[in-house]
Amino acid sequence: MKKLIAGNWKMNGSLEVNAALVQALLADTSAWTCDVAVCVPPVYLAQVQALVQGSRLDLGAQDVSAHQEGAFTGEVSASMLKDFGVRYCIVGHSERRQYHQESDATVALKAQRALAAGITPIVCVGETLAQRDAGLTEEVVKRQLAAMVHTNGHCISEIVLAYEPVWAIGTGKTASPQQAQQVHHVLRRQLQAASQHADRVRILYGGSMNASNAGALLAQPDIDGGLIGGAALKALDFLSIVATAR
Ligand code: PGA
Repeated sequence: MKKLIAGNWKMNGSLEVNAALVQALLADTSAWTCDVAVCVPPVYLAQVQALVQGSRLDLGAQDVSAHQEGAFTGEVSASMLKDFGVRYCIVGHSERRQYHQESDATVALKAQRALAAGITPIVCVGETLAQRDAGLTEEVVKRQLAAMVHTNGHCISEIVLAYEPVWAIGTGKTASPQQAQQVHHVLRRQLQAASQHADRVRILYGGSMNASNAGALLAQPDIDGGLIGGAALKALDFLSIVATAR
């Protein structure tokens, strides 16, 4: 399966910084063997859409409204994202779940809106450190994926899934390749139970993935790419992860 390396810029960047970063990423794409995307803040979609036009770098967003349209001040709809050539949209990132109280049901609706607009949702699941220490990792990620399957069952094979242990995000602590593979395998089994096309769902790992640990993580049988935060802000780091993803 073709791997996907997606950068999550989070709330970082400026017109100037973005232009330099994208230019550096696009300097030589001829050796890329995987799909590559950058998920940018919504105000920069137009800028980055123009920069990546006609290139092999795909455009992504970091969130989408659970509503279709109307009186939802500050929200951005899936059809608006589509207007700007958005191909992927992260939904249910742990920072949204934690700081914006997004429930499993809300995240599932967001994925549904994205799918309806022809955008591939990158659905994030993952346990906190307290949950892992309590032996609840599998239970937590299964519950999060079950909500997704419940709402989007008929097109569950159209999503990208991302396992992001909360304790590994931005902390420099990475799940070991074995720890990550174990959870990815559980998620794969759950997808297989829900869809006969489950084997084409890409399951990304995210959480302090960088140039030096990417190789071992991406070598695992059920790790089909990465969702990269900090290392996506530096062109050389991001490109070396892309080069590792074969
Ligand atoms: P990180 O972030 O690579 O900085 O840990 C990953 C993410 O939150 O998607």
